[in-house]
Amino acid sequence: MTHSALPIIIDCDPGQDDALMLFMALKAPELEVLGIVAVAGNVPLAATALNIRILADICQRTDVPLFAGCDKPLIQPLVTAENVHGKTGIDGIELYEPQVQLQTQHGVDFIVETLLNATQQITIVATGPLTNIAAAILKAPQITDKIKQFIIMGGAMFEGGNITPSAEFNAYVDPHAFDIVLKAGRPIFAFGLDVTHQVLSSPDRIAAIRNLDNPVAKTAADLLEYFDRYDSQKYGTEGAPLHDPCTIAFLLQPELFELKACACQIETNSELTLGHTAVDFWQVTGKEPNIQWAHTVDVEGFFTLLTERLAVYGDH
Ligand code: RIB
Ligand code: CA
Repeated sequence: MTHSALPIIIDCDPGQDDALMLFMALKAPELEVLGIVAVAGNVPLAATALNIRILADICQRTDVPLFAGCDKPLIQPLVTAENVHGKTGIDGIELYEPQVQLQTQHGVDFIVETLLNATQQITIVATGPLTNIAAAILKAPQITDKIKQFIIMGGAMFEGGNITPSAEFNAYVDPHAFDIVLKAGRPIFAFGLDVTHQVLSSPDRIAAIRNLDNPVAKTAADLLEYFDRYDSQKYGTEGAPLHDPCTIAFLLQPELFELKACACQIETNSELTLGHTAVDFWQVTGKEPNIQWAHTVDVEGFFTLLTERLAVYGDH
């Protein structure tokens, strides 16, 4: 029996790690990428929107429609992370003006229209602040019936925060959007810092990617070499955590991850702990679980998958 590809919409804020996620997704026969939507996050929307164009062009996937979504969070002022990702968001490679253009439709309207017209449920992969997803749900709540599942990079529990002591960046930038997704009543598979901090792109792993000797793998290695510098220094580790590719790795090889059904709430008021994801891992609240929280990953298996999927770009 042939397995038809899983239809997905990708919402992201490239970001070097978002780029690696896109490289995996755009060459995966298991996935049908219906569209890629940029959101403001790591860098402002103008930059993330240019970056999805460049990254789709590098992957020779300019057949996938590209959209710009929201340029700021639902309520919070935009917080960006140029200190981590560089001014462009994908520092490490030369930017250029690709031929492929954005669709004129707003990304939120693309999400709403695609889901309303869908004849089968669609998976939402989100690796930036969840602003576009939440805005789409606010605009047309009935779209949740067409959402198969959310696969998100966001949140932190045992690992602590990366933008504040208690909050992970994507959750912190738009906690109100994260809250809307948590309450959307659809399955959520969440890859927070608890698991992404286990997958570190060490120099050896980057060298293995560079040795694949194809343009996309070279781009990935260049991006990772830049991305490594900040987190390696911050955490004193050899390599930076590859947050966003965990989402696609899960879709391609779910057995790489261990997840636990947990009740999760997010702080949307406190200045001190804004964006904190209170993941009830030990079930002390008695609340019904609303997410599958990833907590363990087969690190070697992850990098084998990542390297294999980048190698395919060299096949002709
Ligand atoms: O906290 C890490 C997350 O924030 C990643 O998705 C990174 O790209 C940034 O968006
Ligand atoms: Ca991201």
